[in-house]
Amino acid sequence: MLRPLQGVTMSEAIESLLKENRRFEPPTDFARQARVSSREAYDAMYRESLDDPDTFWRRETSALVFRTPWTKVLEWNLPHARWFLGATLNVTESCLDRHLSTATATKTALLWEGEDGSTRTVTYAELHEKTVRLAGALKQLGVQKGDRVAIYMGMVPEVSVAMLACARIGAVHTVVFGGFSADALRDRIHDSQAKVVITQDGASRRGQVVPLKATVDKALSQPEAKSATHTIVYRHLGSERCRIDMKEGRDAWWDDVLASAPASCEPEIVDAEHPLFILYTSGSTGKPKGVLHTTGGYLAGAHVTSKYVFDLREDDIYWCTADVGWVTGHSYLVYGPLSNGATCFMYEGAPNYPDWARFWRMIEQHKITILYTAPTAIRACMRQGDTWPAKHDLSSLRLLGTVGEPINPEAWVWYHQTIGGGRCPIVDTWWQTETGSIMMATLPGAVAAKPGSTGLPFFGVAPDVVTQEGDPVGANQGGLLVLRKPWPSMFRTLWQDDERFRQGYFSTIKDCYFTGDGARRDEDGYMWVVGRIDDVLNVAGHRIGTAEIESALVSHPAVAEAAAVGRPDDIKGTALVVFVSLRPGSTAGPELRDKLAEHVAKEIGRFARPDLIRFTDALPKTRSGKIMRRLLKDVASGRESTGDTSTLEDLGVLAKLRQDQE
Ligand code: WTA
Repeated sequence: MLRPLQGVTMSEAIESLLKENRRFEPPTDFARQARVSSREAYDAMYRESLDDPDTFWRRETSALVFRTPWTKVLEWNLPHARWFLGATLNVTESCLDRHLSTATATKTALLWEGEDGSTRTVTYAELHEKTVRLAGALKQLGVQKGDRVAIYMGMVPEVSVAMLACARIGAVHTVVFGGFSADALRDRIHDSQAKVVITQDGASRRGQVVPLKATVDKALSQPEAKSATHTIVYRHLGSERCRIDMKEGRDAWWDDVLASAPASCEPEIVDAEHPLFILYTSGSTGKPKGVLHTTGGYLAGAHVTSKYVFDLREDDIYWCTADVGWVTGHSYLVYGPLSNGATCFMYEGAPNYPDWARFWRMIEQHKITILYTAPTAIRACMRQGDTWPAKHDLSSLRLLGTVGEPINPEAWVWYHQTIGGGRCPIVDTWWQTETGSIMMATLPGAVAAKPGSTGLPFFGVAPDVVTQEGDPVGANQGGLLVLRKPWPSMFRTLWQDDERFRQGYFSTIKDCYFTGDGARRDEDGYMWVVGRIDDVLNVAGHRIGTAEIESALVSHPAVAEAAAVGRPDDIKGTALVVFVSLRPGSTAGPELRDKLAEHVAKEIGRFARPDLIRFTDALPKTRSGKIMRRLLKDVASGRESTGDTSTLEDLGVLAKLRQDQE
């Protein structure tokens, strides 16, 4: 459901961004050597990408390995797109094999640092060898082309190996973020009918052990997860730090299966439209959506955006801080950079462990040149003051990126000055799990950046801002953000729910993909994304569906009804506030509050714990019985409600909620 476009938040947010009119021209030194070095060059490539996609994509994917070239670039039967028709490939040949005959074979593919400070390097040749062995092992377990494999791991090089090994044999991976609970993992295994789960004993987080294998055990002990008959367990922490149980006949150690696997495994050559992965994300109903990406188009999108948006160079040491469990990790820690032969830095732990200098110390030590992170992390670091970054030499950095939510201009400027020393361009990148790769960016070297704006469309992307009726709005008018044309890395459907795919994304605005975001475009064509205008919240860069939280809460015996809303938060961007009415016989109080927060953590994961739980006798509803979230949002934010309350059934409910707050 969409909130009214004229809603308070939207116009307020647009107003605050309207006041921002600073421009940061591309630094001359950077522009001189940039891949796209002027606005004119960008315009020409952009025009070509829309007018002649065949020529554009053939040239731009020439470094990738297609076993059979495509005969037709696109077939668009709205809402279904097929790209690169007739082409065949295996993504691992582009990410790994193609580098083996070049100097890249001995280049570091992954430079890893554990939370405890230990480091590892994995070259392209080594990554290939591990991938091929694990791929063979999966085959030996009976995994076939098209079968699903769940991956529940932390940030270790083996998670990339696991993804690539699936791709090698044409199996479809579904990576489940390690912060999800056993119940959430069980649901994803059930929905995807995964045959195998690849996991590790445990991961380090803030000096504590995250018991990944034990969580897999819990998930698999439930009948809904019975499709998964095998697990492969990577030993990361070791039995001293993380004791685990291995179930005979079901669980096998990673090292053992690799040792008995053949040393080679020919890549399964698949059609460009063969599924590559499913990634579950939150939507406006309780059930997570299985976003399905396919092989050729996804690889093309991840490859080309990595190359241009990060202006990747041979000697870059590139760090994307996102967890591999989210789409940013998929596209910009695995497929994008590896298909470009880049060196990626991967960090296991928390950004502030053991202290707030952690990021900056690693940048100095590993001479990181590109940093791609989220506004919430930037704001959290900014709050700690300049002394932490000041202790370290950050002069290796040459480019900064941001993703996941709108960045407020103050945080942008801090990032630019304090971290980038004023010399690094900032690319603000807008995209989604569904889009697969970056859709809009302030392309570095080519265009000036404006703090808070995600800039211009990437090649082949046609964004627009429209009214609820689908009419384009004028410059600087707020509206719904849509994409008018298909793009190669677009998701093809929702796993086993094509109807939801049509309804959720292609029925709101005629003939367009509706993003769920609100935006405005300024007089220079720059896009300013305001944020979600559906029932999805962006809490500290994590995408959370309000309905998911609500259904988790009402599954608790004490809860009669629940409503989840967002409240602006200085660090998290949005904080999660829930209003709960209780069943008769339950007593409101701190004890129940803790229990309910724990319950959400169990149902979904700790990252989804509400920031505030408020008890109420009743929720404000319309006469037809719909919860009026807009009003609850105002209450949560301590705002007067300017909107219409005439449909409210009982004004007393609202008055009481406000009173309780004071
Ligand atoms: C938001 C993450 C403003 C947006 C890659 C989108 C952004 C949602 C930006 C997708 C940005 C992402 N500026 N908002 N640069 N990037 N968003 O699927 O609301 O986890 O719809 O994908 O994040 O979140 P998702």
